[in-house]
Amino acid sequence: MTGASRPLVAGNWKMNGARAGAVALASALVDRAAAEGGLSCDVLVCPPAHQLFPVLDVIAGSPIALGGQDCHARPDGAHTGDIGAEMLGDAGCAYVIVGHSERRTGHGETDSVVREKAAAARRAGLVPIVCVGETEAQRDAGRALRTVEDQLVNSVPDGAGASNAVVAYEPVWAIGTGRTPAPGEIHEMHGAMRRLLAARFGPDAATLRLLYGGSVNPGNAAEIASIENVDGALVGGASLKAETFWPIVRAFHDDSSPT
Ligand code: 13P
Repeated sequence: MTGASRPLVAGNWKMNGARAGAVALASALVDRAAAEGGLSCDVLVCPPAHQLFPVLDVIAGSPIALGGQDCHARPDGAHTGDIGAEMLGDAGCAYVIVGHSERRTGHGETDSVVREKAAAARRAGLVPIVCVGETEAQRDAGRALRTVEDQLVNSVPDGAGASNAVVAYEPVWAIGTGRTPAPGEIHEMHGAMRRLLAARFGPDAATLRLLYGGSVNPGNAAEIASIENVDGALVGGASLKAETFWPIVRAFHDDSSPT
């Protein structure tokens, strides 16, 4: 249940697929969005970098937005293999994921690196989706809240607000595992994140979108969407097929539609 005016359902395609499949998936999503005749949530796809332009061609003029999966903190220069936030903007992106746990662990990204990337995204006019989340060991040790609060304090740049930042809570142990926290655990974490952001950023933080990510699927999306302070989802595996991604979009659409 969202405090934000419009939930956001984002598909993180990670390092999957080739151009033809990306175009087919994007087309299927455009068709489904058209069939809805108006959505009460925002929908975003974050393909691998080489698929951005072909996907942009397909989604142009549709309600589906485009995002990157990571950006460098600097706009350009000698950074082989990286992509700047301005470049993502040039490729049609409106959002970029930063600080995903697969970047934090696979590429050694610290909170301060994530914060610089989020600031770079804003510099480029993109909305950063700042990811936080505890490992299983941290949860087992009773340190889940503390871990996420520390990540939030240190990864979210100053001046964040509802219009220029999104936060995604992705427990590392729930990513790609089919396991999710109990609804009460998501409720507790999202409430704590909301309070922390409100203390730092004031009333605007009440509508800053807090996404849940980690094994979201068509079977659990409605329950997750109904949790207070859950303003959308960041979806990995289930975002790779329209048949599994669109029911998740619909769950958040239904949750935020006037009854
Ligand atoms: P899964 O939905 O595959 O668990 O991945 C979640 C995720 O990492 C999204 O960024």
